Amino acid sequence: MVYITRKAQFSAAHRLNNPILDDKENYEIYDKCNNYWGHGHNYTIEVTICGTPNPDTGYLIDLKQLKKIINENIISKVDHKHLNFDVDFLKGKITTLENMSAIFWQQIQDKLPSGKLFKIKMWETENNSVEYFGEEFLIKSFEN
Ligand code: NI
Repeated sequence: MVYITRKAQFSAAHRLNNPILDDKENYEIYDKCNNYWGHGHNYTIEVTICGTPNPDTGYLIDLKQLKKIINENIISKVDHKHLNFDVDFLKGKITTLENMSAIFWQQIQDKLPSGKLFKIKMWETENNSVEYFGEEFLIKSFEN
């Protein structure tokens, strides 16, 4: 088994807020990240594919193809956007790294020409990252 990873960056704004809670409760949970007009991050995402390389090419997946899949299905949709309002597959979702890594997984899972999606790792700051391995969990949708 071989693991191959492609990294990408995007910049975006978001606001962590649950509309079923009141302002005080939201502030207690999300603190600075609840700032009314949002705030920005330079995100990094790493996509790891696993599998057995094709013996004829020596490739598990062509990294040019993987780059294109990540760009078309994730980066081009989120870069320089407000994640709460501009991105159809994030609408109504709370845009934590936890939720976004699982939602991004759904965006690319079925698009890989070879190999299997193994891990998505995302950084919101240099010190804060999340790793997601595909186990499903509940992501609620709220009216914005
Ligand atoms: Ni934030």
